[in-house]
Amino acid sequence: MHPIDLIRKTRDRQPLSAQDIHFLVAGAAAESIPIEQLAAWLMAARIQGLSLDEIRLLTLAMRDSGKRFDPHPPTHGKTAVDKHSTGGVGDKTSFLVAPIAAACGLAVPMISGRALGHTGGTLDKLEAIPGFRTALSLAEFEAVLRQCGAAIVSQTPDLVPADRILYALRDRTATVESPGLICASILSKKLAAGLDALILDVKTGSGAFLRDLSDAEYLAALLVSTANAAGTRTVALLTDMSQPLGYAAGNWIELVEAVELLRNRRNPQSEDLRELSLQLAAWMIHLGGKASSPDHGYALAEATLHNGSALEHFLAMVAAQGGDTAVFDNPKAFHRPALTHTLTASRSGRILAQDTTTLGWAVQRLGAGRDKPGTPVDPHAGIHFHYRTGDMISAGQSLATLYASTPGHLAEAIPLIESALSWSAPTRFASIESASDTPPLTAPTPLLLQVIDRDCADAILALAPR
Ligand code: URA
Repeated sequence: MHPIDLIRKTRDRQPLSAQDIHFLVAGAAAESIPIEQLAAWLMAARIQGLSLDEIRLLTLAMRDSGKRFDPHPPTHGKTAVDKHSTGGVGDKTSFLVAPIAAACGLAVPMISGRALGHTGGTLDKLEAIPGFRTALSLAEFEAVLRQCGAAIVSQTPDLVPADRILYALRDRTATVESPGLICASILSKKLAAGLDALILDVKTGSGAFLRDLSDAEYLAALLVSTANAAGTRTVALLTDMSQPLGYAAGNWIELVEAVELLRNRRNPQSEDLRELSLQLAAWMIHLGGKASSPDHGYALAEATLHNGSALEHFLAMVAAQGGDTAVFDNPKAFHRPALTHTLTASRSGRILAQDTTTLGWAVQRLGAGRDKPGTPVDPHAGIHFHYRTGDMISAGQSLATLYASTPGHLAEAIPLIESALSWSAPTRFASIESASDTPPLTAPTPLLLQVIDRDCADAILALAPR
C-alpha cells in the first residue's frame, strides 16, 4: 500500500477501506508516512469531506493507535466521565468541570490538547503553572487519578499517538475545520481514556471552527452518534461562541479567571463561564449516575463551588502533576508579561458583534500560541476584555488590556482586535447619552442553544447525510 494512492482516493472522493485507514493511522503514529503526504491527505479530507463510515473507522483506528487506558482499577470502580469542547476563545471550562465532577465522586481522566488554530489549548494553559507536567506515563496518569479524582494529560507516544501527530499537523496546515477530522481527533482521545460517559460542548458562532448552526449541529450529531456506538454514553450541548467566554483569553490569565470562580468569587464578566461550566458539570454528574437529572446535577455542582471542595480537588491535582500551588496564593503577582498595553476605543457607539476567530488569532499572535510545533508559548501573553457584545462604549474608553511578548507581537494583534469589532453606525446617535438609551439591535444569543442526545443525533444524521 502507498500513501499517494490514499491521497488520490480521498482527493477524488473514492471511499477509503478499513485497511486503507489502518495503514494511514499506523503510519501517522509511527511517523513512517512522510509528513508532506500526511499533510496532503489531511487537505484532501478537509476539502472533499469524509463519509460517515470513514469517520467512524478513522476514529476507532486513532483510538487504537496506542494503549487504551482503563480508569476503573485506579479509582476502585468509580464511574469515569469527561467533557470536551470543539474549541473556542477564552474557553477554560475544563479547569472548573474536572474538579467539580471529581468532588462529586466521579473519576475524570482527561486527555486534552494544545492550542489549535485560533483557539487556546488546555495543556498550554496548565503548563503556565511552574512545574506542571502534562506528558505523564500511564502509571503516573493512574496515580494522579487515584489520588485526586481528576488528571489532565496530553497525548503521548503511548496514548493516542496518531492524534498527537495529526493534531499538530492540522494546526499548521489549515486543516482543522473539518467535521470528520474534528470528530476523530476528539473521540480518539476520549474513547482511549475508557470513559463511561462524556459531555461534549459543541460551539457555534463567530469563534467556532464550524460557525454555522447547521454545521455545528451536524458535528454534534456525528460526535454523539459515534461515541454512543463505541459504547460511551454521550450527549452534546450546542453552545454560543459568538464572543469570548469570560473576560480572559491567554494561558496564565485564563487559569486565574477559573480559579477565582473555584474560590466562589463571582464577576459579572465571568458569569457566562460560570453558567456554562455548571451546565456541563451538571450533565457529567447526571450521566455519571450521581444525580437523577441535569437540574439535580447543577445543584450538586454549584454546592462544590460554595463549599470549596472543587477548589481543593483542583489544587490537589495541580500538586500531584508537579505544579507549584503557591502561585495561586497571589495569582495576579505571578502575572509578569513583558509588555502591557491598554487598547482604547477610537469612537463611540454600541458593539453589535465580534469576529471571535479574529480575536482568537490576536491572542495567539500576542505570544500565547506557537509558530512552530514544539516551540514554547508565552504563558503571560493574552487579552483581558473590558466589554461584551451589546455594550455602549464612549470614545477613549478602555476596551481591552493586552499582554505581549514583544512590540512586534503587539503591533500584529492591535489591528486584528480593531477589525474584529462591529459597531453601530456613527451617525445613528447624536450623543452618547441618547445612544445609551437605545437597546441593542438584536437580542443576545442564549448561551445554551440545544441538547443533542443519541436519538436526536441519529435523526439529524439520517436527515442530513453528507
Ligand atoms: N479538540 C480536539 O481535540 N480536536 C479538534 O480537532 C478540535 C478540538
